[in-house]
Amino acid sequence: MSLRAIVLAAGRGTRMKSERPKVLFSVAGRPLVSWALDAVAGAGADEIVVVVGHGADQVRARLPDGVRAVVQEPQLGTGHAVMTALAEMGEVAGDIILVVPGDTPLLQPGTLQALVAALSSAPAALLTTVMPDPTGYGRVLRDGPRVVGIVEHRDATAEQRGITEVAVSTYAFSGAALAGALAGLGRGNDQGEYYLTDAVAALAATGEVRGVPVADPAEVLGVNSPAQLAEVGAVIRRRLNAAWMEAGVEMVDPDWVYLDATVMLEAGARLYPGVHLEGRTTVAAGAEVGPDVFAVDSAIGPGSRVWYAVLRSAEVGEGVQVGPFASLRPGTRLEAGSKAGTFVETKNTVVGRGSKVPHLAYIGDTVIGEGTNVGAGTITCNYDGRSKHRTVIGDRVFIGSDTMLVAPVRIGDEATIGAGSVITRDVAPGALALERSEQREVPGYAARKAHQAPEKE
Ligand code: UD1
Ligand code: CA
Repeated sequence: MSLRAIVLAAGRGTRMKSERPKVLFSVAGRPLVSWALDAVAGAGADEIVVVVGHGADQVRARLPDGVRAVVQEPQLGTGHAVMTALAEMGEVAGDIILVVPGDTPLLQPGTLQALVAALSSAPAALLTTVMPDPTGYGRVLRDGPRVVGIVEHRDATAEQRGITEVAVSTYAFSGAALAGALAGLGRGNDQGEYYLTDAVAALAATGEVRGVPVADPAEVLGVNSPAQLAEVGAVIRRRLNAAWMEAGVEMVDPDWVYLDATVMLEAGARLYPGVHLEGRTTVAAGAEVGPDVFAVDSAIGPGSRVWYAVLRSAEVGEGVQVGPFASLRPGTRLEAGSKAGTFVETKNTVVGRGSKVPHLAYIGDTVIGEGTNVGAGTITCNYDGRSKHRTVIGDRVFIGSDTMLVAPVRIGDEATIGAGSVITRDVAPGALALERSEQREVPGYAARKAHQAPEKE
Protein backbone atom coordinates (compact mmCIF):
# COMPACT_ATOMS: atom_id res chain seq x y z
CA MET A 1 0.00 0.00 0.00
CA SER A 2 1.39 3.39 -0.89
CA LEU A 3 0.41 6.96 -0.16
CA ARG A 4 -0.11 8.76 -3.46
CA ALA A 5 -0.89 12.47 -3.60
CA ILE A 6 -2.78 14.58 -6.12
CA VAL A 7 -2.31 18.35 -5.98
CA LEU A 8 -5.08 20.33 -7.69
CA ALA A 9 -3.57 23.24 -9.58
CA ALA A 10 -5.37 23.56 -12.92
CA GLY A 11 -7.76 26.35 -12.01
CA ARG A 12 -7.47 29.84 -13.38
CA GLY A 13 -7.74 31.80 -10.17
CA THR A 14 -10.09 34.38 -11.70
CA ARG A 15 -10.13 36.63 -8.65
CA MET A 16 -6.38 37.21 -8.85
CA LYS A 17 -7.21 39.20 -12.03
CA SER A 18 -3.96 38.10 -13.57
CA GLU A 19 -2.67 36.09 -16.51
CA ARG A 20 -0.25 34.38 -14.13
CA PRO A 21 -1.49 30.97 -12.94
CA LYS A 22 -2.64 31.39 -9.35
CA VAL A 23 -0.39 28.69 -7.90
CA LEU A 24 2.67 30.60 -9.17
CA PHE A 25 2.03 33.63 -6.99
CA SER A 26 4.71 33.65 -4.32
CA VAL A 27 4.77 33.83 -0.58
CA ALA A 28 8.16 34.15 1.11
CA GLY A 29 9.81 33.81 -2.29
CA ARG A 30 8.26 30.46 -3.20
CA PRO A 31 5.24 29.74 -5.41
CA LEU A 32 2.05 28.61 -3.65
CA VAL A 33 2.29 25.19 -5.28
CA SER A 34 5.73 24.56 -3.73
CA TRP A 35 4.30 24.97 -0.23
CA ALA A 36 1.55 22.44 -1.04
CA LEU A 37 4.17 20.05 -2.43
CA ASP A 38 6.22 20.37 0.77
CA ALA A 39 3.17 19.49 2.84
CA VAL A 40 2.38 16.29 0.90
CA ALA A 41 6.05 15.30 0.69
CA GLY A 42 6.38 15.94 4.44
CA ALA A 43 3.34 13.73 5.06
CA GLY A 44 5.27 10.90 3.42
CA ALA A 45 3.68 10.71 -0.04
CA ASP A 46 5.41 8.10 -2.20
CA GLU A 47 4.18 9.72 -5.40
CA ILE A 48 3.03 13.26 -6.20
CA VAL A 49 0.99 14.20 -9.25
CA VAL A 50 0.09 17.84 -9.93
CA VAL A 51 -2.96 18.53 -12.08
CA VAL A 52 -2.11 21.53 -14.26
CA GLY A 53 -4.26 23.35 -16.80
CA HIS A 54 -4.34 27.11 -16.81
CA GLY A 55 -0.73 28.16 -17.63
CA ALA A 56 0.28 24.48 -17.65
CA ASP A 57 3.75 25.03 -19.13
CA GLN A 58 4.62 27.77 -16.64
CA VAL A 59 3.48 25.67 -13.69
CA ARG A 60 5.24 22.56 -14.94
CA ALA A 61 8.50 24.52 -15.26
CA ARG A 62 8.40 25.31 -11.53
CA LEU A 63 7.84 21.75 -10.33
CA PRO A 64 10.77 19.92 -8.72
CA ASP A 65 12.21 16.72 -10.15
CA GLY A 66 10.21 13.65 -9.28
CA VAL A 67 6.87 15.47 -9.27
CA ARG A 68 4.70 14.60 -12.25
CA ALA A 69 2.42 17.06 -14.01
CA VAL A 70 -0.81 15.90 -15.63
CA VAL A 71 -2.61 18.30 -17.94
CA GLN A 72 -6.35 18.78 -17.44
CA GLU A 73 -7.76 20.43 -20.56
CA PRO A 74 -10.49 21.63 -20.52
CA GLN A 75 -10.99 22.12 -16.79
CA LEU A 76 -14.34 20.54 -16.01
CA GLY A 77 -14.19 20.72 -12.24
CA THR A 78 -12.42 19.23 -9.24
CA GLY A 79 -13.86 15.74 -9.84
CA HIS A 80 -12.67 15.87 -13.42
CA ALA A 81 -9.23 16.99 -12.21
CA VAL A 82 -8.91 13.91 -10.03
CA MET A 83 -10.20 11.66 -12.85
CA THR A 84 -7.53 13.13 -15.13
CA ALA A 85 -4.83 12.38 -12.55
CA LEU A 86 -6.03 8.85 -11.90
CA ALA A 87 -6.05 8.12 -15.64
CA GLU A 88 -2.28 8.68 -15.57
CA MET A 89 -1.61 6.97 -12.25
CA GLY A 90 -2.53 3.42 -13.23
CA GLU A 91 -3.86 0.97 -10.68
CA VAL A 92 -4.75 2.66 -7.39
CA ALA A 93 -6.75 -0.09 -5.67
CA GLY A 94 -5.03 -0.86 -2.39
CA ASP A 95 -3.40 2.60 -2.21
CA ILE A 96 -4.37 5.71 -0.29
CA ILE A 97 -4.98 8.80 -2.41
CA LEU A 98 -4.40 12.14 -0.76
CA VAL A 99 -5.96 15.14 -2.53
CA VAL A 100 -4.89 18.68 -1.65
CA PRO A 101 -5.46 22.05 -3.33
CA GLY A 102 -2.39 23.82 -4.73
CA ASP A 103 -3.51 27.17 -3.32
CA THR A 104 -3.47 26.38 0.42
CA PRO A 105 0.14 26.95 1.43
CA LEU A 106 -0.27 26.81 5.21
CA LEU A 107 -1.29 23.12 5.36
CA GLN A 108 1.08 21.19 7.61
CA PRO A 109 2.34 17.63 7.00
CA GLY A 110 1.12 16.54 10.46
CA THR A 111 -2.43 17.55 9.57
CA LEU A 112 -2.33 15.41 6.42
CA GLN A 113 -0.91 12.50 8.41
CA ALA A 114 -3.77 12.83 10.89
CA LEU A 115 -6.23 12.79 7.97
CA VAL A 116 -4.65 9.60 6.59
CA ALA A 117 -4.76 8.05 10.06
CA ALA A 118 -8.47 8.96 10.36
CA LEU A 119 -9.16 7.26 7.01
CA SER A 120 -8.18 3.88 8.42
CA SER A 121 -10.54 1.46 6.62
CA ALA A 122 -13.12 4.09 5.63
CA PRO A 123 -13.66 4.97 1.96
CA ALA A 124 -12.90 8.67 2.55
CA ALA A 125 -11.88 11.21 5.16
CA LEU A 126 -12.02 14.93 4.61
CA LEU A 127 -10.57 17.91 6.38
CA THR A 128 -13.13 20.46 7.53
CA THR A 129 -13.13 23.79 9.28
CA VAL A 130 -15.72 26.08 10.77
CA MET A 131 -16.01 29.50 9.16
CA PRO A 132 -18.02 32.35 10.64
CA ASP A 133 -18.71 33.47 7.06
CA PRO A 134 -18.72 30.32 4.90
CA THR A 135 -19.93 32.08 1.72
CA GLY A 136 -18.57 30.36 -1.37
CA TYR A 137 -17.47 27.16 0.37
CA GLY A 138 -18.91 23.67 0.19
CA ARG A 139 -21.00 22.94 3.32
CA VAL A 140 -20.47 19.64 5.16
CA LEU A 141 -23.72 17.72 5.58
CA ARG A 142 -23.67 15.45 8.60
CA ASP A 143 -25.86 12.84 10.16
CA GLY A 144 -24.44 12.86 13.65
CA PRO A 145 -20.71 12.14 13.42
CA ARG A 146 -21.01 10.73 9.89
CA VAL A 147 -20.52 12.95 6.87
CA VAL A 148 -23.26 12.29 4.35
CA GLY A 149 -22.28 14.76 1.68
CA ILE A 150 -21.03 18.20 0.69
CA VAL A 151 -23.19 20.80 -0.98
CA GLU A 152 -21.62 23.71 -2.85
CA HIS A 153 -22.67 27.17 -1.77
CA ARG A 154 -24.29 27.94 -5.12
CA ASP A 155 -26.28 24.69 -5.05
CA ALA A 156 -27.24 24.92 -1.37
CA THR A 157 -30.67 25.66 0.07
CA ALA A 158 -31.10 28.60 2.43
CA GLU A 159 -31.09 26.16 5.33
CA GLN A 160 -27.89 24.45 4.16
CA ARG A 161 -26.23 27.84 3.77
CA GLY A 162 -26.66 28.25 7.50
CA ILE A 163 -24.11 25.44 8.06
CA THR A 164 -20.72 26.84 9.03
CA GLU A 165 -18.66 23.65 8.78
CA VAL A 166 -17.06 23.66 5.34
CA ALA A 167 -14.93 21.39 3.14
CA VAL A 168 -11.47 22.62 2.19
CA SER A 169 -10.67 20.41 -0.82
CA THR A 170 -8.37 18.21 1.26
CA TYR A 171 -9.18 14.51 1.32
CA ALA A 172 -7.79 11.05 1.92
CA PHE A 173 -9.46 8.31 -0.12
CA SER A 174 -9.21 4.59 -0.40
CA GLY A 175 -7.99 4.22 -4.00
CA ALA A 176 -10.52 1.58 -4.99
CA ALA A 177 -13.44 3.50 -3.47
CA LEU A 178 -12.38 6.76 -5.14
CA ALA A 179 -12.05 5.20 -8.59
CA GLY A 180 -15.52 3.70 -8.25
CA ALA A 181 -17.15 6.93 -7.07
CA LEU A 182 -15.56 9.05 -9.82
CA ALA A 183 -16.92 6.68 -12.47
CA GLY A 184 -20.42 7.57 -11.31
CA LEU A 185 -20.03 11.38 -11.19
CA GLY A 186 -22.38 13.57 -13.18
CA ARG A 187 -22.50 17.27 -14.03
CA GLY A 188 -25.98 18.05 -12.78
CA ASN A 189 -25.11 21.17 -10.83
CA ASP A 190 -25.21 24.90 -11.22
CA GLN A 191 -21.81 25.04 -12.98
CA GLY A 192 -22.16 21.89 -15.12
CA GLU A 193 -18.92 20.56 -13.64
CA TYR A 194 -17.77 17.23 -12.23
CA TYR A 195 -17.59 17.96 -8.49
CA LEU A 196 -15.19 15.97 -6.34
CA THR A 197 -17.53 16.81 -3.48
CA ASP A 198 -20.20 14.62 -5.12
CA ALA A 199 -17.84 11.65 -4.82
CA VAL A 200 -18.04 12.14 -1.06
CA ALA A 201 -21.83 11.76 -1.03
CA ALA A 202 -21.55 8.64 -3.19
CA LEU A 203 -18.98 7.12 -0.81
CA ALA A 204 -21.05 8.03 2.23
CA ALA A 205 -23.71 5.70 0.87
CA THR A 206 -21.24 2.80 0.86
CA GLY A 207 -19.41 3.37 4.15
CA GLU A 208 -18.51 5.82 6.88
CA VAL A 209 -16.96 9.02 5.57
CA ARG A 210 -15.00 10.79 8.28
CA GLY A 211 -14.96 14.53 8.73
CA VAL A 212 -11.77 15.67 10.44
CA PRO A 213 -11.92 19.24 11.80
CA VAL A 214 -8.57 20.97 11.39
CA ALA A 215 -6.94 21.91 14.69
CA ASP A 216 -5.79 25.35 13.52
CA PRO A 217 -8.23 27.01 11.09
CA ALA A 218 -5.42 29.26 9.78
CA GLU A 219 -3.88 26.18 8.14
CA VAL A 220 -6.63 25.90 5.57
CA LEU A 221 -6.65 29.53 4.46
CA GLY A 222 -6.80 29.36 0.67
CA VAL A 223 -5.56 32.00 -1.71
CA ASN A 224 -8.20 33.28 -4.10
CA SER A 225 -7.43 37.00 -4.19
CA PRO A 226 -4.50 39.38 -3.69
CA ALA A 227 -5.84 40.21 -0.22
CA GLN A 228 -5.79 36.54 0.77
CA LEU A 229 -2.28 36.20 -0.68
CA ALA A 230 -1.15 38.95 1.68
CA GLU A 231 -2.99 37.36 4.60
CA VAL A 232 -1.34 33.98 4.02
CA GLY A 233 2.00 35.73 3.47
CA ALA A 234 1.68 37.33 6.89
CA VAL A 235 1.07 33.96 8.56
CA ILE A 236 4.09 32.42 6.83
CA ARG A 237 6.20 35.42 7.75
CA ARG A 238 5.27 35.04 11.42
CA ARG A 239 6.08 31.33 11.27
CA LEU A 240 9.46 31.88 9.61
CA ASN A 241 10.46 34.75 11.88
CA ALA A 242 9.44 32.83 14.99
CA ALA A 243 11.57 29.87 13.84
CA TRP A 244 14.60 32.12 13.26
CA MET A 245 14.23 33.80 16.64
CA GLU A 246 13.99 30.33 18.18
CA ALA A 247 17.31 29.60 16.43
CA GLY A 248 18.92 32.64 18.06
CA VAL A 249 18.39 35.43 15.53
CA GLU A 250 17.45 38.75 17.11
CA MET A 251 14.65 40.82 15.57
CA VAL A 252 13.87 44.24 16.95
CA ASP A 253 10.32 43.94 15.55
CA PRO A 254 9.51 40.68 13.73
CA ASP A 255 6.37 42.18 12.18
CA TRP A 256 8.62 44.30 9.99
CA VAL A 257 11.10 41.65 8.83
CA TYR A 258 10.45 40.00 5.46
CA LEU A 259 12.44 36.84 4.74
CA ASP A 260 12.24 34.45 1.82
CA ALA A 261 12.07 30.84 2.92
CA THR A 262 15.40 30.31 1.12
CA VAL A 263 17.32 32.83 3.27
CA MET A 264 19.86 31.50 5.82
CA LEU A 265 20.67 33.30 9.06
CA GLU A 266 23.16 32.55 11.84
CA ALA A 267 22.41 32.78 15.53
CA GLY A 268 23.51 36.16 16.83
CA ALA A 269 22.52 38.10 13.71
CA ARG A 270 20.40 41.15 14.53
CA LEU A 271 17.70 42.41 12.19
CA TYR A 272 16.11 45.84 12.45
CA PRO A 273 12.72 46.81 11.00
CA GLY A 274 12.32 47.19 7.26
CA VAL A 275 14.62 44.32 6.32
CA HIS A 276 13.76 42.36 3.17
CA LEU A 277 16.05 39.43 2.50
CA GLU A 278 15.40 37.43 -0.64
CA GLY A 279 16.69 34.46 -2.61
CA ARG A 280 19.96 32.92 -1.44
CA THR A 281 20.83 35.72 0.96
CA THR A 282 22.78 34.81 4.10
CA VAL A 283 23.54 36.80 7.27
CA ALA A 284 26.33 35.70 9.61
CA ALA A 285 26.59 35.89 13.38
CA GLY A 286 27.04 39.32 14.89
CA ALA A 287 25.96 41.14 11.74
CA GLU A 288 23.47 43.99 12.15
CA VAL A 289 21.16 44.51 9.22
CA GLY A 290 18.72 47.41 8.82
CA PRO A 291 16.79 49.51 9.31
CA ASP A 292 15.60 49.42 5.70
CA VAL A 293 17.74 46.96 3.81
CA PHE A 294 16.75 45.09 0.67
CA ALA A 295 19.13 42.23 -0.18
CA VAL A 296 18.76 39.55 -2.81
CA ASP A 297 21.20 36.66 -3.36
CA SER A 298 23.76 38.41 -1.17
CA ALA A 299 26.02 37.38 1.70
CA ILE A 300 26.55 39.55 4.79
CA GLY A 301 29.58 38.52 6.83
CA PRO A 302 30.10 38.26 10.57
CA GLY A 303 29.97 41.48 12.54
CA SER A 304 29.14 43.64 9.54
CA ARG A 305 26.84 46.64 9.76
CA VAL A 306 24.49 47.22 6.82
CA TRP A 307 21.80 49.89 6.99
CA TYR A 308 19.56 51.74 4.55
CA ALA A 309 21.00 49.83 1.63
CA VAL A 310 20.18 47.74 -1.44
CA LEU A 311 22.33 44.67 -2.14
CA ARG A 312 21.96 42.54 -5.26
CA SER A 313 24.28 39.53 -5.73
CA ALA A 314 26.79 41.23 -3.47
CA GLU A 315 29.24 39.70 -1.03
CA VAL A 316 29.98 41.56 2.17
CA GLY A 317 32.85 40.14 4.22
CA GLU A 318 33.62 40.26 7.92
CA GLY A 319 33.36 43.53 9.87
CA VAL A 320 32.32 45.57 6.84
CA GLN A 321 30.28 48.79 6.96
CA VAL A 322 27.66 49.44 4.32
CA GLY A 323 25.50 52.56 4.10
CA PRO A 324 23.58 54.48 5.04
CA PHE A 325 22.18 54.84 1.51
CA ALA A 326 24.43 52.50 -0.42
CA SER A 327 23.62 50.44 -3.51
CA LEU A 328 25.74 47.33 -4.00
CA ARG A 329 25.03 45.96 -7.46
CA PRO A 330 25.89 42.51 -8.83
CA GLY A 331 29.50 41.44 -8.62
CA THR A 332 30.34 43.63 -5.65
CA ARG A 333 32.69 42.07 -3.08
CA LEU A 334 33.61 44.02 0.01
CA GLU A 335 36.49 42.32 1.83
CA ALA A 336 37.06 42.23 5.58
CA GLY A 337 37.04 45.56 7.37
CA SER A 338 36.19 47.58 4.27
CA LYS A 339 33.50 50.21 3.84
CA ALA A 340 31.01 51.39 1.23
CA GLY A 341 29.45 54.36 2.96
CA THR A 342 26.93 57.10 2.42
CA PHE A 343 25.54 57.46 -1.12
CA VAL A 344 27.97 54.96 -2.60
CA GLU A 345 27.14 52.77 -5.61
CA THR A 346 29.31 49.83 -6.59
CA LYS A 347 29.04 47.34 -9.45
CA ASN A 348 31.30 44.42 -10.41
CA THR A 349 33.87 45.71 -7.96
CA VAL A 350 36.17 44.32 -5.32
CA VAL A 351 37.03 46.57 -2.37
CA GLY A 352 40.08 45.03 -0.67
CA ARG A 353 40.69 44.46 3.04
CA GLY A 354 40.38 47.61 5.09
CA SER A 355 39.82 49.85 2.06
CA LYS A 356 37.24 52.59 2.38
CA VAL A 357 34.84 54.28 -0.02
CA PRO A 358 33.12 56.41 2.59
CA HIS A 359 31.00 58.94 0.68
CA LEU A 360 29.33 59.89 -2.61
CA ALA A 361 31.04 57.60 -5.11
CA TYR A 362 30.35 55.42 -8.13
CA ILE A 363 32.81 52.55 -8.42
CA GLY A 364 32.22 50.11 -11.29
CA ASP A 365 34.30 47.37 -12.95
CA THR A 366 37.04 48.07 -10.45
CA VAL A 367 39.47 46.21 -8.24
CA ILE A 368 40.73 48.09 -5.19
CA GLY A 369 43.61 46.66 -3.16
CA GLU A 370 44.09 46.80 0.61
CA GLY A 371 44.17 49.82 2.89
CA THR A 372 43.18 52.27 0.17
CA ASN A 373 41.05 55.35 0.72
CA VAL A 374 38.76 56.65 -2.01
CA GLY A 375 37.74 60.26 -1.47
CA ALA A 376 34.26 61.70 -1.56
CA GLY A 377 32.83 62.28 -5.01
CA THR A 378 35.13 59.82 -6.81
CA ILE A 379 33.78 58.28 -9.99
CA THR A 380 35.19 55.50 -12.11
CA CYS A 381 34.26 56.51 -15.64
CA ASN A 382 33.90 52.90 -16.79
CA TYR A 383 31.71 53.48 -19.84
CA ASP A 384 32.87 55.32 -22.92
CA GLY A 385 29.48 55.22 -24.56
CA ARG A 386 30.24 51.98 -26.32
CA SER A 387 31.93 49.57 -23.94
CA LYS A 388 32.88 49.09 -20.31
CA HIS A 389 36.48 49.33 -19.08
CA ARG A 390 38.28 48.34 -15.91
CA THR A 391 39.95 50.40 -13.21
CA VAL A 392 42.66 48.83 -11.06
CA ILE A 393 43.67 50.60 -7.85
CA GLY A 394 46.53 49.21 -5.77
CA ASP A 395 47.21 48.93 -2.02
CA ARG A 396 47.42 51.93 0.35
CA VAL A 397 46.43 54.37 -2.40
CA PHE A 398 44.99 57.77 -1.50
CA ILE A 399 42.46 59.09 -3.99
CA GLY A 400 41.58 62.73 -3.38
CA SER A 401 38.02 63.95 -3.41
CA ASP A 402 36.14 64.57 -6.65
CA THR A 403 38.46 62.44 -8.78
CA MET A 404 37.39 61.05 -12.16
CA LEU A 405 39.21 57.81 -13.02
CA VAL A 406 38.74 57.38 -16.76
CA ALA A 407 38.98 53.66 -17.47
CA PRO A 408 40.89 51.70 -18.52
CA VAL A 409 43.36 52.98 -15.97
CA ARG A 410 45.67 51.59 -13.26
CA ILE A 411 46.75 53.36 -10.09
CA GLY A 412 49.91 51.86 -8.55
CA ASP A 413 50.40 50.96 -4.87
CA GLU A 414 50.85 53.90 -2.50
CA ALA A 415 50.09 56.45 -5.21
CA THR A 416 48.28 59.69 -4.33
CA ILE A 417 45.77 61.43 -6.57
CA GLY A 418 45.21 65.12 -5.95
CA ALA A 419 41.64 66.19 -5.36
CA GLY A 420 39.63 67.24 -8.38
CA SER A 421 41.75 65.36 -10.92
CA VAL A 422 40.58 63.74 -14.14
CA ILE A 423 42.94 60.78 -14.42
CA THR A 424 43.23 59.38 -17.93
CA ARG A 425 46.68 57.72 -17.79
CA ASP A 426 48.14 55.05 -15.49
CA VAL A 427 49.80 56.32 -12.31
CA ALA A 428 53.08 54.73 -11.14
CA PRO A 429 53.41 53.25 -7.63
CA GLY A 430 54.28 55.88 -5.03
CA ALA A 431 53.70 58.82 -7.42
CA LEU A 432 51.51 61.90 -6.92
CA ALA A 433 49.22 62.57 -9.86
CA LEU A 434 47.45 65.89 -10.19
CA GLU A 435 45.33 67.08 -13.05
CA ARG A 436 43.91 70.53 -12.57
CA SER A 437 44.68 74.06 -13.70
CA GLU A 438 46.96 75.94 -11.39
CA GLN A 439 45.35 78.21 -8.85
CA ARG A 440 45.60 81.92 -9.79
CA GLU A 441 45.46 84.70 -7.23
CA VAL A 442 44.68 88.37 -7.78
CA PRO A 443 45.97 90.36 -4.75
CA GLY A 444 43.91 93.24 -3.42
CA TYR A 445 40.94 92.33 -5.53
CA ALA A 446 38.31 93.34 -2.99
CA ALA A 447 39.75 96.79 -2.44
CA ARG A 448 40.08 97.41 -6.19
CA LYS A 449 36.44 96.44 -6.67
CA ALA A 450 35.31 98.84 -3.96
CA HIS A 451 36.91 101.83 -5.81
CA GLN A 452 35.19 101.06 -9.11
CA ALA A 453 32.37 103.51 -9.94
CA PRO A 454 28.97 101.89 -9.66
CA GLU A 455 27.35 101.11 -12.98
CA LYS A 456 24.75 103.61 -14.26
CA GLU A 457 21.25 102.25 -14.27
C1 UD1 B 1 -13.89 23.91 -4.01
C2 UD1 B 1 -14.82 22.84 -3.42
C3 UD1 B 1 -15.51 23.39 -2.18
C4 UD1 B 1 -14.49 23.89 -1.18
C5 UD1 B 1 -13.58 24.94 -1.86
C6 UD1 B 1 -12.46 25.39 -0.96
C7 UD1 B 1 -15.66 21.46 -5.25
C8 UD1 B 1 -16.75 21.24 -6.21
N1 UD1 B 1 -15.79 22.49 -4.41
O1 UD1 B 1 -14.71 24.98 -4.49
O2 UD1 B 1 -16.29 22.37 -1.59
O3 UD1 B 1 -15.15 24.47 -0.07
O4 UD1 B 1 -12.99 24.35 -3.03
O5 UD1 B 1 -11.53 24.37 -0.76
O6 UD1 B 1 -14.69 20.71 -5.25
N2 UD1 B 1 -9.19 22.79 -9.88
C9 UD1 B 1 -8.64 22.02 -10.88
N3 UD1 B 1 -9.40 21.73 -11.97
C10 UD1 B 1 -10.66 22.17 -12.13
C11 UD1 B 1 -11.23 22.95 -11.10
C12 UD1 B 1 -10.47 23.25 -9.99
O7 UD1 B 1 -7.50 21.62 -10.79
O8 UD1 B 1 -11.28 21.85 -13.16
C13 UD1 B 1 -8.39 23.10 -8.70
C14 UD1 B 1 -8.14 24.58 -8.51
O9 UD1 B 1 -6.94 24.96 -9.15
C15 UD1 B 1 -8.04 24.70 -6.98
C16 UD1 B 1 -8.93 23.58 -6.47
O10 UD1 B 1 -9.10 22.67 -7.55
O11 UD1 B 1 -6.72 24.45 -6.53
C17 UD1 B 1 -10.27 24.11 -6.00
O12 UD1 B 1 -10.89 24.75 -7.10
P1 UD1 B 1 -11.76 26.06 -6.95
O13 UD1 B 1 -12.20 26.52 -8.26
O14 UD1 B 1 -11.06 27.03 -6.07
O15 UD1 B 1 -13.02 25.42 -6.20
P2 UD1 B 1 -14.13 26.16 -5.42
O16 UD1 B 1 -15.21 26.52 -6.37
O17 UD1 B 1 -13.57 27.22 -4.57
CA1 CA C 1 -11.12 28.06 -4.05
